[in-house]
Amino acid sequence: MASELNSYGFPDGSEIKTNSLVPEIKKLVEDSAKARDLAYCPYSKFNVGAALLAENGAVYTGCNVECSSYGGTVCAERTAAVKAISEGIRKFKAIAVIASNVRDFTAPCGICRQFLLEFGDISIFIVKSDLSSVKVYQLSSLLPEYFLF
Ligand code: THU
Repeated sequence: MASELNSYGFPDGSEIKTNSLVPEIKKLVEDSAKARDLAYCPYSKFNVGAALLAENGAVYTGCNVECSSYGGTVCAERTAAVKAISEGIRKFKAIAVIASNVRDFTAPCGICRQFLLEFGDISIFIVKSDLSSVKVYQLSSLLPEYFLF
């Protein structure tokens, strides 16, 4: 199911300057960074933000929410998805994900890849921590032969 071009026409893995993105994705990048500022991460001190674009144009943001019982922690991507789905929104176009500047690009964890794929194969924009560029993928290309029930 992996594709060579994602649904915005970019080759998987390409790095694109944020300024040259279409307005709806540029805004998604900015929204992910605002969500990153809201992360509750006293244990890892590793902020993550996500912004999920629904097919109807609505944007659902999320941050990581940690728990002193570490296994209870929820990632930013799943926070955003659960917000949307719990409001009756299940069709999505894209997600932007950004993290702390520990490294330039932080890709979503395996659980989040599987969780997001539950609701369709969307474009994923992994945002550089300084917002200057994004790495673009189709979600399924990041999880080959993913589990289906
Ligand atoms: N985290 C996310 O929010 N998204 C991911 O895809 C990977 C990890 C969070 C969870 C935890 O609060 C922190 O990053 C360190 O693992």
